[in-house]
Amino acid sequence: MTVGGPTFDLVVAANRLPVDRVVDAEGVSGWQRSPGGLVTAMEPVMRGRDAAWVGWAGEPGTAPEPFSQDGLHLYPVGLSFLEVQEYYEGFSNDTLWPIYHDVIVKASFERTWWNTYRTVNLRFAQAIVEVAAPGATVWVHDYHLQLVPAMVRSIRDDVRIGWFDHIPFPPVELFAQLPWRRAVVEGLLGADFLGFQRSADAKNFLRVCRRLLGMATEGDTVTFTPPGDGPSARRTVRASAIPISVDFKGLDALARTPPVVARAAEIRASLGNPEILMLGVDRLDYTKGIRHRLRAYEELLQEKAIIPPKVTLMQVALPSRERVDAYRVLREEVEATVGRINGEYSSLGSPAVHYLHQSYPRTEMVAMFLAADIMLVTPLRDGMNLVAKEYVTCRHDLGGALVLSEFTGAWHELHQAFTCNPHDIEGVKQTIMRAITDPPDQRRRRMKALRTHVADHDVQRWACLYLESLASAPMAPHRPTRASDRERRDDERANRANLRASDKASEGTGQ
Ligand code: F6P
Repeated sequence: MTVGGPTFDLVVAANRLPVDRVVDAEGVSGWQRSPGGLVTAMEPVMRGRDAAWVGWAGEPGTAPEPFSQDGLHLYPVGLSFLEVQEYYEGFSNDTLWPIYHDVIVKASFERTWWNTYRTVNLRFAQAIVEVAAPGATVWVHDYHLQLVPAMVRSIRDDVRIGWFDHIPFPPVELFAQLPWRRAVVEGLLGADFLGFQRSADAKNFLRVCRRLLGMATEGDTVTFTPPGDGPSARRTVRASAIPISVDFKGLDALARTPPVVARAAEIRASLGNPEILMLGVDRLDYTKGIRHRLRAYEELLQEKAIIPPKVTLMQVALPSRERVDAYRVLREEVEATVGRINGEYSSLGSPAVHYLHQSYPRTEMVAMFLAADIMLVTPLRDGMNLVAKEYVTCRHDLGGALVLSEFTGAWHELHQAFTCNPHDIEGVKQTIMRAITDPPDQRRRRMKALRTHVADHDVQRWACLYLESLASAPMAPHRPTRASDRERRDDERANRANLRASDKASEGTGQ
């Protein structure tokens, strides 16, 4: 990291830099934009601003020198092989991730992992303060860096600090399992403003402050005295929901380009031009409900409600966290299930499931979205799920239909989706069939409404709202508050209607 180098008014810090190292056929190495929700959301926000991004370059070893790529000023943080194991794979993805996702798999508690998490968070904090200009805004992202806000504040009290939680924040009963729960909350409370995907997440956090740490909360704020400080150091921090979104304009424009439209047709042709192409695109993660989705699909095949190759499923499983046990087990189970389904229901040249365990460039993903008649987004728990928003953004033709789990953040906004409870297999089957059989004009109406919502709530608006909220914290910014109150009431009304619709889908099924 450079000492005495350039400084920036906005510093973003996330576990990963927005680029991955790639080596071309000639062995020349370079950087390319990495996949993943956070990067997709933040990249358009950073572009055009004089801002720095602090993050890990994605490989163990010494950090590369700071560099600029496509107008982004990137400051790599180095992680040793052991730190990758203990801070990233261990504490972040085998302790925090399960706790923050309803303990779908058991969380592991290892004291050495916690120590490494602290060490790495401190390294990030030091890197941030070196590039933050006096009075800068520091925007920290995600569960990997929850101690960073307090660490930055302890070194630099001139900067404004925000943190955004891209994943759910768990109910107090689950968060309470974490042996280091107090330190995590105190780490977060170094921020001026804490942003969450849903108001339920913000409320969970405030409840944790009140119930576990005995702090005073009022509305969406918590007031406390930092540990070791006198009463004059009392601070108030605001915690509220600002749901993330996608770059609607950029993605919509990409989906309209002739090569992408042509590629979508080519994808369909290569699958034998099915009448109905269903698509799932997920990181291969146990939170995504891939097993439940495959089970529902298999039962529909068994019951002959759908018959390949007229109807087919393409499941893209993006490789993820492959050295963590729970992910290895998931991969084995998913691949065994796909093998069983294909063995039973495929015919020569027409598999019932087209399974792809690979990453794809953005244009190819957009073409897949354009090609798919039914998009299956069925997580058991998901902070937002940007795939759902990306899909509707790409459907400028108003074609397609979105099947969406009510356990995603996206469900709280995308009220015109076909909603389902992924645990209710019978309900998922009914919802898929409803999405298939809904009259085309109604599907188009739904898609139009979904697109309007995402167009009006794009990632640029999210970033503006976030930065306004951070600037005015602990007070709520004036303009958005009234709008978001109204929006919240509308959302709550629509959510209730959604729940009734998804219950109706299961009615009479004995579930
Ligand atoms: O959504 C949570 C998140 O950790 C993002 O920060 C990240 O983009 C995505 O999941 C991918 O995870 P990983 O960085 O572990 O590959």
